[in-house]
Amino acid sequence: MGVGGFMLSSITLPNLRFAADPVLQPKEGSDLINTNLKVDELTNEPKKVEFSFKQKDGWYEKETTQFAWVYKDENGEIIAHSPVCKHLGCNVEWNSSENHPNMYFCPCHKGLYYKDGENVPNTPPRAPLDRYDYEIRDGYLYLSTRAKEVKG
Ligand code: FES
Repeated sequence: MGVGGFMLSSITLPNLRFAADPVLQPKEGSDLINTNLKVDELTNEPKKVEFSFKQKDGWYEKETTQFAWVYKDENGEIIAHSPVCKHLGCNVEWNSSENHPNMYFCPCHKGLYYKDGENVPNTPPRAPLDRYDYEIRDGYLYLSTRAKEVKG
């Protein structure tokens, strides 16, 4: 291999590695995680549902646990809210404030959200809680690992 060939391979090979390395590939269809919760157990009261999955960051892999607030609305539709407050990122809790029953409450700066995730006007959060996508497989609830923004 001449100098030209060496230079070409040093430019091309890292790009080929990037294209072929499975760690660097986006994972399609693998975003949904089994929460091990039977959908029949859900009610109209938000329930804290934890789920764990392996998360890759380059060559490093770690077990990540996160949770969602999940309930069935009046139409039987499953709603899975992210607990991450849209103000500065603390975790909200359902029905944890005596003064604000049946709401999500953020203890950091007294942020409030209605049950449907809408932020209460004149409290610190400026946007609704994000939502996880979900699927039901064999009666079990699967949630996406990333919640999506809900436009207010
Ligand atoms: S972080 Fe939730 S109200 Fe500020």
